[in-house]
Amino acid sequence: MKILILNGPNLNLLGVREKSIYGTQSFELYFEELKAAFPDLELSYFQSNTEGILIDKLHEVGFSYKGIVMNAGAYTHTSIALSDAIKAIETPVVEVHISNVFAREAYRHRSMIAPYCTGSISGFGLDSYRLALEYFMRLKPKQIG
Ligand code: DQA
Repeated sequence: MKILILNGPNLNLLGVREKSIYGTQSFELYFEELKAAFPDLELSYFQSNTEGILIDKLHEVGFSYKGIVMNAGAYTHTSIALSDAIKAIETPVVEVHISNVFAREAYRHRSMIAPYCTGSISGFGLDSYRLALEYFMRLKPKQIG
């Protein structure tokens, strides 16, 4: 089952950036842990700081992969183009955030993409990604085509 983890802007700096909010681990290292924890999933990982490149990636995998776990970073709160892309594709997208966006600034409380995602997971640190993968793991084969 092919699953893409798609990270948006500034998430290449995990482990370096605002450690009190986002922790000390790089995503590359965490991704190795995820691959070991979910050997039955064909996991891939992609990160871009550019809105259009994220949209291209959604188009590329969004008609063949079984799932996408997406942390759109700050584009979550602003991007109609990303929300349109998620609406346009067939692959279900689970929205994740490392921090609890609802406990932060008001401008982080709104998600443009949430209405088009299967669900949203926020506030569990990097574990937010693991919880999203658990969801895809538990889907019965007939539910994911
Ligand atoms: C984030 C929350 C966003 O508000 C922020 O812009 C990010 C990271 C998170 O994972 O907690 O870049 O998506």
